[in-house]
Amino acid sequence: MNGGSKEICPRCEEGILTSIETPQDISLEGTRIRLGRVQMDECRVCGFRSLSGREVGLFEILFAPQYARISDLVAALKAAGYYSAFLREDQSESALTFGSREYVARLAEDLRDLYLDNESGHIIRGLSAVSSGKVPIELQGKHYQVKLPKIGEGENGIVYDFEEDVYSVLKFAKPRPYSREHLREEYEVTDFFLKHAIPVAKILESDPYGSYMIKEKLAGESLAKIYDDLGPPGTPLHQQVKKEVATFVGRLIELFDRYPKTKTSVSPNNIFILMTGNECRCLLVDTGPAPLHDYSDFVFDHYWEKVIPQKIKRYREVGYL
Ligand SMILES: Nc1ncnc2c1ncn2[C@@H]1O[C@H](COP(=O)(O)OP(=O)(O)OP(=O)(O)O)[C@@H](O)[C@H]1O
Ligand SMILES: [Mg+2]
Ligand SMILES: [Zn+2]
Repeated sequence: MNGGSKEICPRCEEGILTSIETPQDISLEGTRIRLGRVQMDECRVCGFRSLSGREVGLFEILFAPQYARISDLVAALKAAGYYSAFLREDQSESALTFGSREYVARLAEDLRDLYLDNESGHIIRGLSAVSSGKVPIELQGKHYQVKLPKIGEGENGIVYDFEEDVYSVLKFAKPRPYSREHLREEYEVTDFFLKHAIPVAKILESDPYGSYMIKEKLAGESLAKIYDDLGPPGTPLHQQVKKEVATFVGRLIELFDRYPKTKTSVSPNNIFILMTGNECRCLLVDTGPAPLHDYSDFVFDHYWEKVIPQKIKRYREVGYL
């Protein structure tokens, strides 16, 4: 996602995904079509498998900028052996645009996932191709100037500032059904956390398919970003933040016990630290579910001393940080 480098498994957050190419059948207007080289990601640790991103041939054609008119595109598709046109006449061909959701709704389910994977893959590739400055993006008819570089990345999404609203951020799901589901559920459980007095970022707009959302921008920095700047373990700042995080994570795990459906990952990427004067507060930046996590033998000191540094190292290796 980040310039073609490695990805951590979104399910177990342990394995590194490996990619294979596999054929897949989809239905186009009642006809089965075999796509030859659909990319599939696999985690050797937990067995997670997911279609991800493009069927190289088909979607390079669909999104190629040289096909300015739909008729050119259809001709190109036919030449490549695809016989049903499934793009709408009014579909925008401009570079970084999410397709209309009415169009997506009409696609058969297998094609829909493939379409959504490719749409997100296309957008994320477009954004990754630029390292600074702004990139225009269109979301359902609204225009945004997305600012580069990204402000954050996790297993499921990439997050950017944008020019139109300095108090909000745009989060794009990675191109796989699992990550879109993560964003959809993130949307669903945000209110739950607010009701239970856990400060979270409010979601201002969201895609019904989970491909993107606009969230309130949280003040502060993620624990992953500031952990190494806290100073040695005995020092006051380190102690203060550690104590605050211990209380916060304790409250979260207690909540997960009572409401297992709300279980999220307490990764250092998901916890924000806000220092105001001498005060330190924790916020939850990502409410997306992590059903595979088991907190039954969670030990805070182990988490603080071992798990967090390991996770940060991992995030750096794959380019999330
Ligand atoms: N609302 C926000 N305000 C400020 N920064 C944010 C916000 N949302 C995300 N970020 C930044 O982006 C990073 C990744 O965001 P987030 O945790 O939501 O992604 P994710 O891929 O869903 O994570 P995970 O892999 O834990 O599921 C965060 O650690 C943070 O640095
Ligand atoms: Mg996260
Ligand atoms: Zn895994």
